[in-house]
Amino acid sequence: MNYRHSFHAGNYGDVFKHTLLVLLLRALQRKAKGFLYLDTHAGRGAYDLRAAAGRPERPPEWPQGIGRLWNASGLLPPLADFVALVRAFDRRAGAGGARPPRLYPGSPWLAALVRRPQDRLALWEQQPAEARALRAAFARWPRVAVTAGDGYRALRALLPPPERRALVLIDPPFEAQNEFEAILDCLGEGRQRFPSGVYAVWYPVTERARADAFHAALRRRALAPTLWAELAVSADAAVRMKGCGLVVLNPPWGFAQGLPPVLAALSSLLGVDAGAAGRMDWLVPET
Ligand SMILES: C[S@@+](CC[C@H](N)C(=O)[O-])C[C@H]1O[C@@H](n2cnc3c(N)ncnc32)[C@H](O)[C@@H]1O
Repeated sequence: MNYRHSFHAGNYGDVFKHTLLVLLLRALQRKAKGFLYLDTHAGRGAYDLRAAAGRPERPPEWPQGIGRLWNASGLLPPLADFVALVRAFDRRAGAGGARPPRLYPGSPWLAALVRRPQDRLALWEQQPAEARALRAAFARWPRVAVTAGDGYRALRALLPPPERRALVLIDPPFEAQNEFEAILDCLGEGRQRFPSGVYAVWYPVTERARADAFHAALRRRALAPTLWAELAVSADAAVRMKGCGLVVLNPPWGFAQGLPPVLAALSSLLGVDAGAAGRMDWLVPET
């Protein structure tokens, strides 16, 4: 496996995932009690967008993602919140102003930027070099633990958390043929160990049938109230990743209600043709 998230950092899939991640974190923070944020596939944490330049055979993906929001005005508050976090992080690369983004925060940094003193971060990453970079970045941060290892095993190690509240982000590279099966097993285990946890899974929509089969399996298992949200950027058969989605088990109060305008705004900002759309629905409704 040689997946490198650096090639994709800041693309539309990241913008979709990270906007919804921040919404989930903010929703959980409506209660004062702290929680565990567990990132099973954390990546290296920070991405230098300039590293993606200068390779004609592989044009950078961020201009069609964060690049489209960077200087946009009148953004919906959740999108403005997300862009403000990315801008705050990017300022580490030097004075901002009107220049394009240089540094993009991965999910661990977004969680770190919004976390409160009572919240705790557990970050798992299997690639040794990525895990080393992540560990170095958070070496001085209290209540942030980085583990180099298989994130699918993190749930067994960490759940149930002493806080009795958790958000688990499962964001694998989808290089393995059996990734959806691995996710379903992982969710089953998580749900068994800690039924009230919030579990979010990002997935690509490269083949509609595979995403539909994933939805169907979740519906059959009915592990917990579950919703899906998807952003399609194109209906063109030539586009490999036409869209992506997030399923959320036990979505926190207020999250589902706020999603439709966010998805509509993301599809109009990030869409590349008339096939662009943002949609959501329940797989297992709340009772
Ligand atoms: C899509 S990237 C993660 C991006 C990150 N969550 C973010 O939003 O910034 C997937 C990461 O999972 C790592 N990975 C692959 N298999 C893994 C496993 N079994 N456990 C933990 N990490 C894994 C890859 O090295 C890669 O860094």
